Amino acid sequence: MVFAVRVEQGSVDAWEDQAVVVNLFQGIKRPGGATGAVDKALDGAISELIEAGNIKGKFKEVTLFPTFGKIPAKKVAVVGLGKRKDFTLDRVREVSAAVLKELRKRNVRAFTTIVHGAGIGGLDPEAAAEAVAEGAILGNYRFDRKTVGVEDRPDVERVTLLEREPKKVTAFKEAVARATVVCEATNLARTLINLPAAEKTPTYLAKVAKDAGKKAGVKVTVLDHRQAKKLGMGAFLGVAAGSEQPPKFIVMEYNGAKRGRPVAIVGKGITFDSGGLNIKPYEFMKTMKEDMSGAAAVIATMQAIGQLKPKVNVIAVAPCTENMPGGRAQKPGDIVTAMNKKTIEILNTDAEGRLILADALSYVTEKDPQAIVDLATLTGACAVGLGKKVAGLMGTDDRLQRRLQNAAEAVGDRVWPLPLYDEFEEQVKSDVADVKNIGGRYGGAITAALLLKKFVDDRPWVHMDIAGPAYNEGGADSNKKEYNPKGATGFGVRILVRMLEDWNKKVA
Ligand code: BES
Ligand code: ZN
Ligand code: ZN
Repeated sequence: MVFAVRVEQGSVDAWEDQAVVVNLFQGIKRPGGATGAVDKALDGAISELIEAGNIKGKFKEVTLFPTFGKIPAKKVAVVGLGKRKDFTLDRVREVSAAVLKELRKRNVRAFTTIVHGAGIGGLDPEAAAEAVAEGAILGNYRFDRKTVGVEDRPDVERVTLLEREPKKVTAFKEAVARATVVCEATNLARTLINLPAAEKTPTYLAKVAKDAGKKAGVKVTVLDHRQAKKLGMGAFLGVAAGSEQPPKFIVMEYNGAKRGRPVAIVGKGITFDSGGLNIKPYEFMKTMKEDMSGAAAVIATMQAIGQLKPKVNVIAVAPCTENMPGGRAQKPGDIVTAMNKKTIEILNTDAEGRLILADALSYVTEKDPQAIVDLATLTGACAVGLGKKVAGLMGTDDRLQRRLQNAAEAVGDRVWPLPLYDEFEEQVKSDVADVKNIGGRYGGAITAALLLKKFVDDRPWVHMDIAGPAYNEGGADSNKKEYNPKGATGFGVRILVRMLEDWNKKVA
């Protein structure tokens, strides 16, 4: 499928396309700006529909009707922006995605839109243009393997952002180019997560990482079982022991700065979490192909970073393996030794994420990083505590945590800190090893993070638990948005890319 967002100079009332999209704040009777110009050209048709109560301007409300030759565009769509006091950049993304999906359903294959919020919305025009492009590219994403009833399913091929001022057109083109790179990376992460575990084996992910690296000019190294063993990654290999699929430890390196220590990003890559011998019940196992969402996020982030070329050095690591029961599977009571020589007592084979991360964090720590960020679908407890729309942040460095909070705020994703107090330490003390891999019923997200902390050697480090927002099961409690389809959301990619792009800026 071909799909692209482009920017052109012109006015919607004089623009030819299958449809033009204008907007309306809730409660406005007489539209101004571009919407007003189209209304006027249509002899007041929009005002009349408002008057008659057919158009209310409610958030995400889309009204599509024909123009009967009064303007060059065949149809006009009016999208509601909601109440002006509730208006945000993220609402622009949602509105843009809502328009795309509605027009797609109505068989419009190409349309032209104004930049919502750039005029009377009062947003930064460039950020608004980027948000419109993001909403369209993310909203256009689908994943399925249906063969019946999809033969003539319509697809949108082209979205045009129209701007009258030539000066803004140049800025908008840059914004759209950036949005395209970041959202295509997000969609790559989504596809990796949505793929059945039977297909996205560690070996497959390693190949995708290599392809992404080639595409974006990023160096990719893949360590196999033998190399991991040589490095002493006993915790990673312990998890892999029950699987027929060979584990892969993916390393990606981008050098955008001449000098300087790298920023490390680490993602949990369990391609299927059955729980291992502590096998999960049906209800908890059915979505566990999502358990490599952290790995998908860092691989996709490196693709985008390689294309955007910010002035920072980055090393990304994704330890990838299945967590399966089997004749050789690790067992409760086992003691494993991680790469940094610390020992871990396994008491529950389903607490495997922290084990593979123990080795991944040890590995990056040896690369002398200036900061470490890890992303992991680590604990159900985090999703219970914060809800499925919010990622938990825990770490050892306030400034790094603020970088993530600022980046998340900018891209419209929700993150929230949890307290990594020393008082929780007692819960992960083992009688026979340096630490144990479970910490009891209370504070589960925190005790998991406390284990990770033992493998970062006091470096500035923040852990992001994405067990909630990584996957949208579709319920009211899920991380659903107009631009987050059912299934994988690609949570984390846009946050990480933004954080790395802003790395040399002052931290607010
Ligand atoms: N992958 C799961 C966590 C998870 C739960 C991710 C729901 C996404 C959605 C993780 O490996 C796990 O099983 N954690 C256990 C830890 C427990 C055994 C200490 C959990 O959260 O129950
Ligand atoms: Zn598990
Ligand atoms: Zn897991």
